[in-house]
Amino acid sequence: GVQFHPEVEHCQDGDKVLRNFLYNVCGVSGDWTTDSFIADKIKELKEIIGDKKVLCALSGGVDSSVAAVLVHKAIGDNLTCVFVDHGLLRKNEGNDVERIFRDKFDMNLIRVNCEDRFLGKLKGVTEPEAKRKIIGEEFIRVFEEESNKLGKMDFLVQGTIYPDVVESGHGEAATIKSHHNVGGIPEDIEFQIVEPLRELFKDEVRAVGRELGIPDHMIDRHPFPGPGLGIRILGEVTKEKADILREADNIFIKELRNADLYNKVSQAFVVLLPVKSVGVMGDVRTYEYTAVLRSANTIDFMTATWSRLPYEFLEKVSNRIINEVKGINRLTYDISSKPPATIEWE
Ligand code: XMP
Repeated sequence: GVQFHPEVEHCQDGDKVLRNFLYNVCGVSGDWTTDSFIADKIKELKEIIGDKKVLCALSGGVDSSVAAVLVHKAIGDNLTCVFVDHGLLRKNEGNDVERIFRDKFDMNLIRVNCEDRFLGKLKGVTEPEAKRKIIGEEFIRVFEEESNKLGKMDFLVQGTIYPDVVESGHGEAATIKSHHNVGGIPEDIEFQIVEPLRELFKDEVRAVGRELGIPDHMIDRHPFPGPGLGIRILGEVTKEKADILREADNIFIKELRNADLYNKVSQAFVVLLPVKSVGVMGDVRTYEYTAVLRSANTIDFMTATWSRLPYEFLEKVSNRIINEVKGINRLTYDISSKPPATIEWE
């Protein structure tokens, strides 16, 4: 029973305006279905790309994963995905990406292992923005080097989704996403951009991903920042600290999943502080790192509250991390809201 003025329907982006209204105000997706979206998109991608070569910077995040699989369905081996493993990923993440995209979907995937390169650049650097900048610039270099090795590529796949288009106010311009929620692809790179998810909301992207056969644990993932653990290890980043953090983070995330809490919070992770404190293990005094559990609930990531996780759950995670992770002997829970605190610590 909703009627729109014909001018709305016929204006530029009229379809999107209507879909946006139906979705946000009425809570419905109209006659949109994942099946029809996938079929139409594959047809459209085939027409646009033809037999040209396409490159995709795969991060393992939801948007780039769904975009890559969709494009792969349309053009197969003419798509090459580059996955830059900077050594600042979560436990098993790199192997997981390989297993899913290369083994399950049989896609051309180049995993570039450059842990030493990134850690070398980060040696001695403690200032958050400097770390971010180094990681971002190095990421671009690695990506460019790999892309040059591949010869001429015509298109670049971007996992831009509708909220990104609205947020950055670009309208129809095929601009590369540059705000901080996306890995740093160079602004001046000479590709035509393909953005197959441009008109979708996040939960539509997830529905499409599920329909395409991407595993649930990948589809329901919390966001993960481009600089990765580099901004969750406060102060200087070292391999030793990254390994400690990976173990602790893995326990927290696994326990959230076991307790059916993972999907009830928006983003959860562990932060490693450059602070050591005294503890006691058996008869021995210890002097180890302090870690922080951070879990936030938010709609848009612009404002957030800390998750009211049950005490019993926090106790279990704390016991496990302190007993099982060598290098951490004290754990705290972050009860700061955003603003004034941010979700990440750096
Ligand atoms: P903050 O910490 O600003 O985070 O409250 C809001 C959301 O943005 C993510 N975030 C980043 N994502 N590169 C990214 O790709 C970054 O440098 C970056 N910094 C923050 C953060 O994880 C949260 O989801």
